Amino acid sequence: MRRKHLVVVVVTIFLCWNIMMYYLLVSKNPGKSILVEEKLTWLEADIKHELRENTALLEQLQRQARRKTEAPIGRQAQPEIEAPNQKIEAPIRMNQQPVDANFVILPILMIACDRVSVSRSLDQLLKYRTSPERFPIIVSQDCGHQTTSDVIQKYVVSDNIIHIKQPDLSNIELPWPKKKFSGYYKIARHYKWALNQIFHHFNYSAVIIVEDDLDVSPDFFEYFAATYPVLTSDPSLWCVSAWNDNGKGGMVSDDAELLYRSDFFPGLGWMMERKLWLEIGPKWPVTFWDDWMRHQDQRKDRVCIRPEICRTSTFGKKGVSKGLFYEKHLKYIKLNDQFVEFTKKDLSYLKKENYDPWFKRLVYDTPEVTVAEVMSGSKKHLKALRVTYTTKEQYKSLAKRLGIMDDFKAGVPRVAYRGVNSFIYSGQRIYLAPTADWSQYDLTWT
Ligand code: UD1
Ligand code: MN
Repeated sequence: MRRKHLVVVVVTIFLCWNIMMYYLLVSKNPGKSILVEEKLTWLEADIKHELRENTALLEQLQRQARRKTEAPIGRQAQPEIEAPNQKIEAPIRMNQQPVDANFVILPILMIACDRVSVSRSLDQLLKYRTSPERFPIIVSQDCGHQTTSDVIQKYVVSDNIIHIKQPDLSNIELPWPKKKFSGYYKIARHYKWALNQIFHHFNYSAVIIVEDDLDVSPDFFEYFAATYPVLTSDPSLWCVSAWNDNGKGGMVSDDAELLYRSDFFPGLGWMMERKLWLEIGPKWPVTFWDDWMRHQDQRKDRVCIRPEICRTSTFGKKGVSKGLFYEKHLKYIKLNDQFVEFTKKDLSYLKKENYDPWFKRLVYDTPEVTVAEVMSGSKKHLKALRVTYTTKEQYKSLAKRLGIMDDFKAGVPRVAYRGVNSFIYSGQRIYLAPTADWSQYDLTWT
């Protein structure tokens, strides 16, 4: 009897709770009801994604088991050789790591608005793309610009690209001093929507994001395909970027193979995994999304891979940031024109455990000189030179004199890894570096 009573009480409380929640979330506030619905849709998408991955994993295990039993006794089963043109399967994961990283689908998300010259970017992507199945192109358009929409639509017909449109074109009301930044608010709103589409509607495992004013290099796809397995297997990495902020002609070497780790988030043609979006998507900012990414609250000491020579460059003279930066800096960025067969190379040297000891030795075994010695050319006989900084002001002044970007975001000098900036000055490799006992960034350096 007592037990029955308890059951009745529990059931009643449960029902009351549900009714209460229903009224709280749905009936009283239609805005929230949409939110709940949206979240449910995402949850459904997430579950489907997991299910697909698990099914693929199961199939893979079953295939392996079958092969084992089929292998003739006394002879070893041959390892599976994947034909390069085999059918692409759903991404497979084991302990959160893709087993089949070399075959995962890497969609290109092109962020567009009102530039008809989006065709210039699209033409290049289509020219260099090696596989339409592995690299589907999705153009997400903001701004409701009809002429641009017409341009994109042509590619839908001729090249099977997908065209989606950001539905919320409402004005973003801002108080006067912030009004001039409304473009940045719109960009952030668009990114959030588009990335939600990529991961919660299309259910992809990763994405490569480009903007509508970017040129790309011939090995753009090769670069991202080859670095994807490194990205997924090293938890200290959170992105791969095509961009080097100090990538002006004359400031980079001719070594197109050279890649680095970077503590500074470069953006401008970059790849991330789905799991990162699940982490940062829900708290996505209303504006200045790239600087927000650079903040330690998001970055959490994670780093990106970046090239010596850029795999993207921008032709967007007239953009939201008004072109000043373009004339002074961006137009001098050198776009790589060679094809490096990255997928045939072993890139495991980029993993933290391999890279850090090597990089430290490389930098701190380099002879230390003064900036005057660098600039006078009196040490030209040496292959590389190291210049030391200890304060923020010193860094800025040295960077200015040597011609590299001198700004910091959340304590990190632009392009730096472990405080070190590597670039070419007058044909010579220079490391602008803190002292060898460096252990962390000073977050107050901004
Ligand atoms: C700069 C960055 C850009 C970053 C942006 C936000 C450079 C060279 N570019 O933009 O990578 O995303 O700041 O901090 O540093 N767009 C919309 N909706 C709009 C306006 C623009 O979706 O209302 C899109 C554009 O199509 C483009 C992107 O946002 O793909 C950036 O816009 P752009 O006008 O090129 O601004 P930048 O100053 O280059
Ligand atoms: Mn731009």
